[in-house]
Amino acid sequence: MAGVISIFHFILLFALYSFLGWIIEVIYRSITQRHFVNAGFVFGPFLPIYGFGAAAAIFLESFLSGWHLIPRFIILGLVITAIEYLVGFFAERIFKLTLWDYSENKFNLHGRICLHFSILWTILALLFVMFIHPAAIKMVTLLDDASVKTTAVLFLVYFAVDYFFSVLSISAFRKRIAYLYTEYLNLDNIEIENILNSLQRLRDAFPALNRYVDTNINSNIRNRISTFLKPIQDKIIMEMQGRMSFEPEYYEIIQDIEQHEEFLKLKEYFHHNSSIYAHVQEVAYLSYRICKFLKLDYRSAARGALLHDFFLYDWRNHDVPDLPRHKFHGIEHPSIALENARKHFAVNEIEADIIRKHMWPLTLVPPQYKESFIVSFADKYLSSKEFISEYGKKRHRRRKQRASNRQKNRRVH
Ligand SMILES: [Fe+2]
Ligand SMILES: [Fe+2]
Repeated sequence: MAGVISIFHFILLFALYSFLGWIIEVIYRSITQRHFVNAGFVFGPFLPIYGFGAAAAIFLESFLSGWHLIPRFIILGLVITAIEYLVGFFAERIFKLTLWDYSENKFNLHGRICLHFSILWTILALLFVMFIHPAAIKMVTLLDDASVKTTAVLFLVYFAVDYFFSVLSISAFRKRIAYLYTEYLNLDNIEIENILNSLQRLRDAFPALNRYVDTNINSNIRNRISTFLKPIQDKIIMEMQGRMSFEPEYYEIIQDIEQHEEFLKLKEYFHHNSSIYAHVQEVAYLSYRICKFLKLDYRSAARGALLHDFFLYDWRNHDVPDLPRHKFHGIEHPSIALENARKHFAVNEIEADIIRKHMWPLTLVPPQYKESFIVSFADKYLSSKEFISEYGKKRHRRRKQRASNRQKNRRVH
């Protein structure tokens, strides 16, 4: 019989609104992330938070329908915002995950809600109770009771199963992150790649998870690496202060690269306050010394480090064929360098990892070999030293200039 609204109708409407919410999010996320993103916490095409939001809006509307638009808007807005805050809060408490994050938006509270989105949701909710819900009610009451019941029950069963597996996948996600963090340096490439790939769907669905991955994997690896590098800093770097006469063995390792005509072109390109050529030589020698001291593969470290910035363009100039205008040098140059290196030399797996990952943590995936961490460290250490000394020189020049200007002025007066 048509016309009577039962609990089964509501279940159907809940499914419908969760599905519509999923469509809204997929469109929004896919446009902002420029590829298809299956939004949401469950596997299926539903976002239950929209279903609950819709239920709250419908419930409120039964009291507020005769009211003036402004108090209706405010009350609806407050309730919807409260729901969003609570769902965010419980997801963080129960799953220890930040599913969305407004902390970069203005007027936000703990990153879980913000004024801008609350207004948007309220407008959406108002349009929903005024136009969409009445139309949807009409539609479901036209269906016969038996099919409403069957579809509602099927949906409930499906949803329970999907929810169960989604919760399992979230806790597996957290376990895998913990595993990566504790075992990172003992895992092989394929294992790491498999784990990172398996995290991809959730990371796409919830961009805020990237920050979670960053704090849980990257910062922990960073801390562990810096404790591991501490004694080296004191021993090797102090020892190397002021002298750079390379050992004959180092020359023997890098000779073929260093004398190659394509590689020699690096002398023409400026980097920090010297040429790329001079910069990579310093990074390569420091990496060679550290890896030799630690009994690691110092040959690969020296060769990989020498090739780590093998890009033949001025990185300040964006109009070169290697670096299209819309790409960032910082992110792109490792793969450009690797491509150049492979064109002219035989590059082994460790050397390739060194070149590809030397900008970590700018690139999300961390290096896979200790040698790569060391080259990345040596690069940052020497670059910052070059920058500081250049900055110091500039300041010194400016001070001298000012002093001479003052003297000139004094003479004039
Ligand atoms: Fe670089
Ligand atoms: Fe570099």
